[in-house]
Amino acid sequence: MQKRDLISITDFSKAEYLQIMEMAKGFEKNPNQNLLKGKVVATLFFEPSTRTRLSFETAINRLGGKIIGFTDSSSSSVTKGETLHDTIRMVSNYADLIVMRHPLEGSARYASQISKVPIINAGDGANQHPTQTLLDMYSIIKTQGRLDNINIFMVGDLKYGRTVHSLLMALSVFENPIFNFIAPPELAMPDEYKRFLTSKGIRYFEHREFTGIISEADIIYMTRVQKERFTDPIEYEKVRNVYILRNKMLQQTKPTLKILHPLPRVNEINEDVDSNPKAYYFTQAENGVYTRQAIISHIMGLI
Ligand code: CP
Repeated sequence: MQKRDLISITDFSKAEYLQIMEMAKGFEKNPNQNLLKGKVVATLFFEPSTRTRLSFETAINRLGGKIIGFTDSSSSSVTKGETLHDTIRMVSNYADLIVMRHPLEGSARYASQISKVPIINAGDGANQHPTQTLLDMYSIIKTQGRLDNINIFMVGDLKYGRTVHSLLMALSVFENPIFNFIAPPELAMPDEYKRFLTSKGIRYFEHREFTGIISEADIIYMTRVQKERFTDPIEYEKVRNVYILRNKMLQQTKPTLKILHPLPRVNEINEDVDSNPKAYYFTQAENGVYTRQAIISHIMGLI
């Protein structure tokens, strides 16, 4: 059987997205299933992570699999000069599946070309974060009851934000999405994504402010301005606090609105939002476990 990787969200079809949503629902009802018994999964995190790594490891444990790997490449032979090529070649002899996060864009695709076993991209630089997108979609379908006709406001770092890039591509296969991009010019959604939406006849709007324009939002997707992507600290200081969502700003919004954030947040969502029923980001992170159980099961052909 040909191995299946998940590198870009476009590696899966719309039918597969929907299948994963259904499977995630099943895992949420019944999380402990021994489908991975006897299998070893390597989690290779060349870049820091809390949610992605721990929810993957929880998913693997709940599926009855075993975990090897590293949380910091400084404890691996990368520090001795071992290349990504050789690291992947070695680890694919030890594990049945590799989950990898790496700061370089394209690194996950490269790893998939070397590895004998499937690779799941857990984030490659500013490029893609497809498993985050699948849990975002699961969060949207759970709270809105649909993936069609979603009016989404993406806020913050839309230039380097891999989560918004992947989510935009995924929602574009559903009926009639509307995208609203709220970012300073330095962090605007890259032209390639806007051209992609135009080519598909999908509406998008760009804004500098979000006061007074969020009343029609089904989803507000907040993002962190990512310090680690800036080469010039002065440029980071200029934009770091550009948008802060506060509870009082949610008064004129739809009752069904949900606020998502891939997390971690720094200060772009004030803590006074946390107790508002429209705040969904912590449950969204919990949804990551069920969705990642579904992704692993799908990739490994377990169900
Ligand atoms: N959402 C997300 O990728 O979080 P971590 O960086 O903590 O994994």
